[in-house]
Amino acid sequence: MPPHCGRRHDESASLDQGRDRGRQPGRARGLINAEANRAIRAHSAEFRPGAAAARRFDRVTNRDWARRADQLAAQAYSAGEPTAWFDRLYAEGAAGTIDMPWSRTDAHPLLVRWTDDRPVTEPGRACVVGCGLGADAEFLAGRGWTTTGFDLSPTAVEQARARHPGSAVTYRVADLLDLADDLIGAFDLVVEIHTLQAMPNPPRAAAARGVASLLAPGATLFVVQFRDTGVPTQPPPFPLSRDDLALLEVGGVVPVRVDEVDGPLWRAEFVRRV
Ligand SMILES: C[S@@+](CC[C@H](N)C(=O)[O-])C[C@H]1O[C@@H](n2cnc3c(N)ncnc32)[C@H](O)[C@@H]1O
Repeated sequence: MPPHCGRRHDESASLDQGRDRGRQPGRARGLINAEANRAIRAHSAEFRPGAAAARRFDRVTNRDWARRADQLAAQAYSAGEPTAWFDRLYAEGAAGTIDMPWSRTDAHPLLVRWTDDRPVTEPGRACVVGCGLGADAEFLAGRGWTTTGFDLSPTAVEQARARHPGSAVTYRVADLLDLADDLIGAFDLVVEIHTLQAMPNPPRAAAARGVASLLAPGATLFVVQFRDTGVPTQPPPFPLSRDDLALLEVGGVVPVRVDEVDGPLWRAEFVRRV
């Protein structure tokens, strides 16, 4: 499972450790916690959820990027800039104040399996959307695709280049919400893993139109996203419903197959009609 899939698990594990440290028997523990909470409220004029999150972050010593992601994302959402937090997060990872986010070095296993099952004799032009640190883009380049990886975050792109010196991949900064003309309709294969689910809607629908616009006529789109199972979660990420996934079905892009896989994830393949 990639690191971002495991982040909720890791986070709850570390919270559990925190709870264990102050563990007291049954009812006594409840009373002590209630008193402590009352004391905090009484003595903190600035008691509010945001401040609580900030105080919690001050105490974090384990460089947990997922916690920091939650904090930066919350700030960005309240400022009405829902994608502004990605580069801030990567920049903190590059500075070493937190672990590097989404730092997997291997291609996503579902992408590997999908390409193994579907050998292509003449790989063409591939694009990895929200490529982060480049693992999927490097994998496709290694399979012979002429690969472009783009990301909104200049720091992620810089880090991807630094991780893969001499890479055949063209890494560039680009925003799905404002794509340059040379990217439109330019690819035979587009890979989108965990980007749409990382943003609320809006701007998810506009970003999905951006993804679909990358496909040349006849091109294939391969997608992996967290799947909404109805169990409430604390975003980000925002697990997608089947209707959310259908946001990609624009501009002649139609589903070929959409699978529910463990994770819970969507693994989907679309094609743009010729
Ligand atoms: C959850 S991370 C996933 C990274 C990578 N695809 C992976 O699976 O490890 C989402 C990525 O999408 C990028 N991103 C978010 N909004 C974007 C946008 N509007 N245009 C391009 N990239 C974007 C982020 O910077 C981040 O690298």
